[in-house]
Amino acid sequence: MTLTYSDFRSDTVTRPTEKMRKAMAEAVVGDDVLGDDPTVQELERLAAETMGKEAALFCPSGTMANSIAVKMWTNALEEVIVEERSHIYNMESTHMTFISGVTPRPVRSDRGAMAPADIVAAIRKPNVHTPQTTLICLENTHNNWGGAVIPLENFKAVRRIADEHRLKVHLDGARIFNASVASGVPVRKFADQVDSIQFCLSKALSAPVGSMLAGPKERIEFGRRLRKAFGGGMRQVGVLAAPGIIALTEMVDRLKDDHARAKRLARGMSGLPGVQIDPETVETDIVIFGFEHPKLSCAAMLERMKEKGILALAVAGGIRMVTHKDVGDEDVDRAIRAFQDILS
Ligand SMILES: Cc1ncc(COP(=O)(O)O)c(C=O)c1O
Repeated sequence: MTLTYSDFRSDTVTRPTEKMRKAMAEAVVGDDVLGDDPTVQELERLAAETMGKEAALFCPSGTMANSIAVKMWTNALEEVIVEERSHIYNMESTHMTFISGVTPRPVRSDRGAMAPADIVAAIRKPNVHTPQTTLICLENTHNNWGGAVIPLENFKAVRRIADEHRLKVHLDGARIFNASVASGVPVRKFADQVDSIQFCLSKALSAPVGSMLAGPKERIEFGRRLRKAFGGGMRQVGVLAAPGIIALTEMVDRLKDDHARAKRLARGMSGLPGVQIDPETVETDIVIFGFEHPKLSCAAMLERMKEKGILALAVAGGIRMVTHKDVGDEDVDRAIRAFQDILS
């Protein structure tokens, strides 16, 4: 008998819905590099409107959208303040240095929220020896902090510092809709505090491909040139924009179910031998737990889980499990049972 898997590795494993597949088949397309794909234009209009920004750009990935953002706000010899566990700093193959010629300046945080005083301390004083600080990058929700929601108040404090020091702020909002649903704060309110935002259609919102970069019209038009230079100009790509439109308009409200399942998963495993998790810290769809067991390494635990049909990922600090559209209550029950079987 072949084993079917409950796949908790990431919200990127979500498959497009039937409605998305139909929209892909029927999408009206043009050549987006020539600027005449109406479905892409509609998605870009909708993304800009949703974020309250002048314009938006459809990008093949979140990493490309973030690298375009850094390049469009900075010049070589400059420096970017980043949170020390952030995706843009740790997990995007060093595009800041490789593509933009800028140095990242990591700052510690409290579950992803950098203290204003720490940010101010990290801003370089004008000096011939040092890079010039020009950009701050935020992330919400924060992946490596277990999907933590960065509060709006923190965004406002960062905005005040940025204005005082004439810096720009970019938000890696790969999961900004999760932050919004969990906090009840509309995405626009977060977006209002930053100069640009990238958000992913291809994660919990379940589109197969794509991220949007939204910001001022003139910068986004420059970003369009950068996207072409990065090899990200796509042609009859309305077939990918069509599910993106559904992602934005129909897939946001259901995120609350993912959050409730993540919390239930964390509650179900807390207290089991070797598992370190405080379920109260699980705010959205990501559960990261420490694992230290006298007889099982993390790798062995992942292997035992896999034998029981549960897929998860090893990450810094332990094991990560993410709830999403394609794991239901029965998958959560199955995972909790597997944990109990392996550890009790
Ligand atoms: C917070 C965050 N930002 C950016 C990205 C990059 O997105 P992509 O995988 O589409 O390049 C990810 C991907 O997991 C992410 O979690």
